[in-house]
Amino acid sequence: MSFWTRHQVFEKNSIILVVGILLVIAIGGLVEITPLFYLKSTIEKVDGVRPYTPLELAGRNVYVREGCYLCHSQMVRPLRDEVERYGHFSLAAESMFDHPFQWGSKRTGPDLARVGAKYSDDWHVTHLTNPRAIVPQSVMPGYPFLSRNEVDPDTIADHMRTLRTVGVPYTDDQIASAGADMRAQADPENAGTDAFNKRYAKAVVRNFDGKVGTPTEMDALIAYLQMLGTLVDFKIYNEKANLR
Ligand code: HEC
Repeated sequence: MSFWTRHQVFEKNSIILVVGILLVIAIGGLVEITPLFYLKSTIEKVDGVRPYTPLELAGRNVYVREGCYLCHSQMVRPLRDEVERYGHFSLAAESMFDHPFQWGSKRTGPDLARVGAKYSDDWHVTHLTNPRAIVPQSVMPGYPFLSRNEVDPDTIADHMRTLRTVGVPYTDDQIASAGADMRAQADPENAGTDAFNKRYAKAVVRNFDGKVGTPTEMDALIAYLQMLGTLVDFKIYNEKANLR
C-alpha cells in the first residue's frame, strides 16, 4: 500500500480526518506553549521600578474610578512619531505592578505614560479643576470635587494587601505604615517623611494640592500623575540605542 492509498483513509472518513487535524494542531500547540511554562518571567528586569506608594496608589484608584483611561493611554509605542513626542517607548517592566494595566487603546487626550514632572502641581490642580482654564478648546471634563474629597488613610493598607496576593512585592513594613506614609507624602513638614523616603525610592514628597490637612483625592491623583514615567533612568537606554 503506497502512502497515497493509506492517506485515503483520512480523505474518505471525515471523523478520522477531524481526529487527525486535532492531533496535528495539538502537537503544534504544545511546541509553542510548553517553553513558556519554563520561562521565569517574560518581563526583563529594569532598575528603578518599584510598587506605588500608598498615596500614588490612592491616586491610581481615582484615575481608574473616573475612567481617565477612556481618553488617555499609558503606553508609548516604539514608533518614531511617538518616541519624538512622548519620550522613550514604554518597557514591560514599567507596568509590571499595574493591576489592571492602563495601556489603553483610545487617545482622545495625549498619552500619559511619561507625563510625570512635565508640569507643576499647580498646573495640574488648575487643569484637573477646569481643563478649559488652560486649554480653551479642551474636551476633557473638569474634576473640581477631587479637592473636596479626602482620601482614607485607614483603608489603603487593604488595597496593598490585595495587590500583594497578585504578586506586587509590598513588605509587611510598607503595609503596616501605609496610613502614616500616605499622610507623610503629601506633607513635607511631617515627621515621617524620612522613614517614608527609605521605604519608597524616588518618591516625591510635596503638598500636591497646596492645602493643609488630610490628603485629598487631588493630592493623590497628582502624586500619581507626577511619578508616571519617572522611575527608570532612560539616559542609559538612550545612549545604548544611540537615540537623542
Ligand atoms: C473626554 C476625554 C477625557 C477624559 C475622560 C480625561 N481627559 Fe485628560 N485630556 C483630554 C484631552 C482632549 C486633553 C488635551 C487638552 C487638555 O490639555 O485639556 C487632555 C489632557 C490631559 C493632561 C495633559 C497631558 C499633556 O501631556 O499635556 C493630563 C495630565 C490629563 N489630561 C489627565 C487626565 C486625568 C487624570 C483624567 C481623569 C481624572 C482625564 N485626563 C480624563 C481628554 C480627556
